[in-house]
Amino acid sequence: MPAILEPFHAISISTIAHRLKAEGRDVIHMEFGQPSTGAPAAAIAAAHRVLDNDPMGYWQSDALKARIVRHYAETCGATIAPEQVILTNGASPALVMALSLLFDPGARVAIARPGYVAYRNNLLALFMEPVELPCGPDERYQITAAALEAVDPAPDGVILASPANPTGTVIAADELARIVAVCKARGIRLVSDEIYHGITYGEPALSVAGLDPEALIVNSFSKYFSMAGWRLGWLIVPPALVTQAMARMGNLFLTPPSLAQHAGLIAFDCRDELEGHVATYARNRDLLLAALPELGLQRIAPPDGAFYIWADIGHLTDDSLAFCERLVRDTGVCTAPGIDFDPVEGRRYFRMSFAVSTPLVEEAIARMKPWFAAQKKD
Ligand SMILES: Cc1ncc(COP(=O)(O)O)c(C=O)c1O
Repeated sequence: MPAILEPFHAISISTIAHRLKAEGRDVIHMEFGQPSTGAPAAAIAAAHRVLDNDPMGYWQSDALKARIVRHYAETCGATIAPEQVILTNGASPALVMALSLLFDPGARVAIARPGYVAYRNNLLALFMEPVELPCGPDERYQITAAALEAVDPAPDGVILASPANPTGTVIAADELARIVAVCKARGIRLVSDEIYHGITYGEPALSVAGLDPEALIVNSFSKYFSMAGWRLGWLIVPPALVTQAMARMGNLFLTPPSLAQHAGLIAFDCRDELEGHVATYARNRDLLLAALPELGLQRIAPPDGAFYIWADIGHLTDDSLAFCERLVRDTGVCTAPGIDFDPVEGRRYFRMSFAVSTPLVEEAIARMKPWFAAQKKD
């Protein structure tokens, strides 16, 4: 029987927001994790240039693969052959391919709870079993080596995300090395979702590519490169899996858009513009962290990366979906309910994405302050 998947509840909140906008209300979209900035200017210019001259056939750009190989050599010293890089239509298909490359139906794969909703749903859709490891504020909402060691029997695999969605927390370098060691010792295959790399507020996040040549690495142009709708990402596989990875890409997705590959190559060298976005996120993060106590939101883990605040609203509600609905209807500030990321505790959490302009974050804070002050436990 096909798996029944939960819908993404933030979409229903977003639909309300769009309805309010159509009625003339001023809405601030903080529900989805997507930059509001668009692709770098030079990448857009390159796309304009090639549009008139390129037949836009099925294509995997060798130049882009070579650029990605160089990126790993420069950032983590990993030596990767170009054929190990599979260009995909974003991290989402890369994740599907990684899971189907590594695991049989029935495989048990550990994921953090809270975590990105698609991990659980991809595993279910592929007839695999998510093994949710509850991760609280003490572990900064991340899987630890000890937690992975304690899963009995050992899971077949684990998906790591550092920085993570919905919390933005990063696994410290020494803990990451311990997790890799546990995976090796227990025969656990590792998938590292590195989609938020490049967006960190302290030390850069460490790629697992530099620690474990057998790990599968997922990445994308959707976040740091601000190109979510261009649908471009990549999967790094060990040499032994290259043939099967290419076979899966060819059969399931063919190629990512040609236009996006041309633009993505240029985007790699638009560092000044992209670092400008990260500087905006850093300012937004500081503003929100300073304002949260005034909203009565004390129990949060300050994000080390990505662009999310994951906040405990348990003193106000046990129904995060209804809470986010009320918040958007009353203030126009649109956020994501915690149930999208944690089916157990998520009723008392919500997530704010601060990948918007700083004036919008300031406006959202100004609207939320009186609203939160007036809230009583429902
Ligand atoms: C942790 C994580 N992985 C993967 C994705 C999917 O991204 P893409 O747009 O590259 O498919 C997202 C999107 O929000 C995400 O947050």
